[in-house]
Amino acid sequence: MTTPPDRARVTKAVIPAAGLGTRFLPATKASPKEMLPVVDKPAIQYVVEEAVRAGLSDVLMVTGRNKRPLEDHFDRNVELETALEAKGDTARLAAVQHATDLATVHYVRQGDALGLGHAVLAAAQHVGDEPFAVLLGDDLIDDRDHLLEQMLDVQAREGGSVIALMEVPPESVSLYGCAAVEGSGDVVRITGLVEKPPVDQAPSNLAIIGRYVLSPAVFDVLRTIPRGRGGEYQLTDALQELIATEPVHGVVFRGRRYDTGDRLDYLKAVVQLAADREDLGPPLTAWLREWLGTRP
Ligand code: UTP
Repeated sequence: MTTPPDRARVTKAVIPAAGLGTRFLPATKASPKEMLPVVDKPAIQYVVEEAVRAGLSDVLMVTGRNKRPLEDHFDRNVELETALEAKGDTARLAAVQHATDLATVHYVRQGDALGLGHAVLAAAQHVGDEPFAVLLGDDLIDDRDHLLEQMLDVQAREGGSVIALMEVPPESVSLYGCAAVEGSGDVVRITGLVEKPPVDQAPSNLAIIGRYVLSPAVFDVLRTIPRGRGGEYQLTDALQELIATEPVHGVVFRGRRYDTGDRLDYLKAVVQLAADREDLGPPLTAWLREWLGTRP
């Protein structure tokens, strides 16, 4: 679809990757959880690849005290490239160079990890006065699904902001931000948002997942909101305020999502993505079947 001339096209992706990753300690003591390998790539590379597929090749990563491995991963490694070249290992050389050539990656420090809202606010100067996408660095969307593209289309059509939602079992809603909505189907109008509500106070079973296309108006709200749940500046609280001044839509995602910030979901992600691979899938699934047969 074409973008109305009065609306800026989204070109920038912001990837918050400055969280403490406490659920994954001690693995995340000295390295961000976004660098955990999912099969043979760090989680964050899947997220950058998704942004680039959707046409967003200007990527700003919001990092914390452990930013070094993230920067190194998207930078050249001349020594490694020379060694692979000398060995004639062109496949691995291409894989190493691919991470460098993917996108223009910029970095900004969050300072203290004071919450997702605080991390997004750190992107204000780089983003300027344009709508932009936010992709959480530990949340993977399968590359056969096209959630971000759909969200960008909705934002181009409706303006305002767009949030990805997913139906979750009612007992799990308290683990997420939760949306009250009008309408049904894949695109809904959001009328209210609440961060991690108790099960009996959840307005629906629609959970916020880690993809957003936001209007730059969110920065002014983020500058004024108080700390919310858990003493953190919550992006959900800012978006709840934004609803009063501009349209906020939800795209209900029914595809494949992998939450690599949670240990069990991380393990499932590795197994599922490896099982889908041509090189690893057949031997892995054969072994899994056999191994499960030996379990009580
Ligand atoms: P999470 O809610 O998973 O928090 O953040 P966390 O602190 O990283 O992990 P746990 O709960 O302690 O295990 C969701 C996303 O927002 C980023 C994280 O890096 C992750 O990609 N984030 C979170 C920040 O960039 N800054 C923050 O202050 C908080």
